This record gives sequence, structure tokens and C-alpha cells, in this order.
Amino acid sequence: MKMEKQEPIELVFVSGACGRLGKAVLLGMAGEKNRFCFGFQRHTQAVVLLNPPLAAPVEWWPCDIADFPAAAALIRKLISEKGTAVGKITLVHAIGPFKYEGYQKPDEAAAPDPHVMKMNYEAFVNMTEAVLDAVKDIGHPVQVNLCTFGSVSEKYKVPLWHSFNLAKQKVRDYIQFKAGQNRNIAGLYVRTSTIDTGSENKLRPHVPDNIRRYWLDPEKVAESVCADMEKLKPGAFEIKDIIEPMPGFDPEAYYRDVQKLDAHWRSMMPKPKNSSLEP
Ligand SMILES: NC(=O)c1ccc[n+]([C@@H]2O[C@H](COP(=O)([O-])OP(=O)(O)OC[C@H]3O[C@@H](n4cnc5c(N)ncnc54)[C@H](OP(=O)(O)O)[C@@H]3O)[C@@H](O)[C@H]2O)c1
Repeated sequence: MKMEKQEPIELVFVSGACGRLGKAVLLGMAGEKNRFCFGFQRHTQAVVLLNPPLAAPVEWWPCDIADFPAAAALIRKLISEKGTAVGKITLVHAIGPFKYEGYQKPDEAAAPDPHVMKMNYEAFVNMTEAVLDAVKDIGHPVQVNLCTFGSVSEKYKVPLWHSFNLAKQKVRDYIQFKAGQNRNIAGLYVRTSTIDTGSENKLRPHVPDNIRRYWLDPEKVAESVCADMEKLKPGAFEIKDIIEPMPGFDPEAYYRDVQKLDAHWRSMMPKPKNSSLEP
């Protein structure tokens, strides 16, 4: 009897999958036959399956990405369950906390905030190394595509968010290094202007409407990222900028005048608890 050759399957892992951007990427990747999508979220106990209209399942798994051994073990388990059928793995890290540091740390050499570094950079390394470790057991080459997000502001090394800049630089360099090291790895680093996510709304609740209307829609960002991930060639490393242009906005002028930028940002952020402006 002639054996049917099994078509290779793709596994997609998305962290931050309950955030607006992560969820949009997870669902944007879903629906292809032979593609199994897994979203990780920390505030749930059970695996949640979203299935009927899709050709292949989307699953939300409980996972605290900050718990490195647990996150690595889950990734290894999900890969080993599919075993030799796996031909491609896509990892998208959609977690990357921002910290507004103001003038407290104007020193370029100052140590970065540990949490910002951990979640933007170290967590991504942990997940990537878990994937690369697990594919060694598969017995044939597996294409691994990596993706995470940065900000267009990082080009200006704004000292007000020094740790965020350093963490993004580290994660970008890491992806580039990995893609350069192995033909079966490819990387996409996406720099965006402000995206309308829960975190951003919490960070800047008083943003004026004439600025807010230029915040990017997460679904629009996800659509572009998913299309780029599909086209990524083995061994490639790409940087993609996604910007919603604001008429008259000059980034050089905006980011270089740090004192003015600080005053502008403080006007959009929650007022400090001990502020005399508080009612
Ligand atoms: N928003 C923007 O304007 C903007 C601009 C440029 C770049 N980016 C980048 O885009 C990515 C997504 O940004 P975002 O604004 O959605 O903010 P984010 O603060 O990175 O949050 C994304 C999601 O991550 C989840 N999360 C946080 N810690 C977790 C953990 N330990 N385990 C599992 N899940 C965890 C959060 O869900 P829960 O808290 O509900 O668990 C949240 O929904 C980040 O890399 C960010 O740096 C964003």
C-alpha cells in the first residue's frame, strides 16, 4: 500500500496574546490548514480553544512568560507533541513593557530597569532558546521565524525612556545575530509609532484627541506583520517601520528637545499621587 506523505505543519507561538496587538497577530496568523496557533496569557487557568470557523485550531494557554522555566517547558511540550510533523515554527513576542524614567537617569551608561530588560529581551531569548532546543530532537531542519516589536522612537535614543531603548536594542541585536548564525532562522523586527493598546492608554490617559487619532490600530499593524512573516526568507533579518504619519510632525524636533518632550509627556500621563493638581 502506498503511504501518503504527511504535509509538514507550522506551529505559531504568540506571547502577550490577550493584549490587543498580540491577539490580533494570533488571529491574523490563524486559519491556514496545517498551522497550529498558540497564544500565551497569564490570567487564566485553563486552555481555551477557538475553533469552529478555522481550518486549524487556535489555543490560548495559561503561561506567565516571566516564569522562564515554565514558559520554556510549555514551548518544549507543545513542540514535542507534534514531533516530526513540525516543519516550521513562528514565535512572536508581543510583550514589551515601557517605563517612563524622566530625568532621573540621564546617564547613558546607567543600568537598565531589570523588569523592562527582563520582559522585552530576556523573556524573548528564553522562549527562542526553548524553541531551538526542542527542534534539535525533530531530526530534520525546521524553519524558525522570530518576531518582536520596537518603537520608531528608539532611533532617537530618548533619555526619558533609557531602559526601554536599551532593552529594544538588545532584542533587535539578538534576533539579527540568530538569523545570521543559522540559515534556518529568520527574523523580523517591527518598529511602530504609538499603537492603541491597553498599556498605552494606561500610560497616557490624558493624550489629546488630535494626537490620539493618529494612534495605530492593532489589527492594522497585525495584518502587515502577518503578511511580512509569511514572506520572510530563511536566514533573512528585516526591520520594518509601521508609522501613522501625523501631519506636520517632525520627529527630529520632537525627540531632540528633551525638556519640552518631558513636559509634553507629563501632561499626558496620570498625575503623581502627591501632586497639588490632584483634587
Ligand atoms: N503600544 C504602543 O504604542 C507600542 C509602540 C511601540 C512598540 N510597542 C511594543 O509592542 C508590544 C505590545 O505592546 P503593548 O502596548 O500591547 O504593551 P505590553 O505592556 O507589552 O502588554 C502586552 C500584553 O502582555 C501581557 N503580559 C505582560 N506580562 C506578561 C507575562 N509575564 N506573561 C504573560 N503575558 C504578559 C499583558 O497582558 P495581561 O497584563 O493582561 O496579562 C498585555 O496584554 C511590546 O513589545 C511593546 O514594546 C508598543
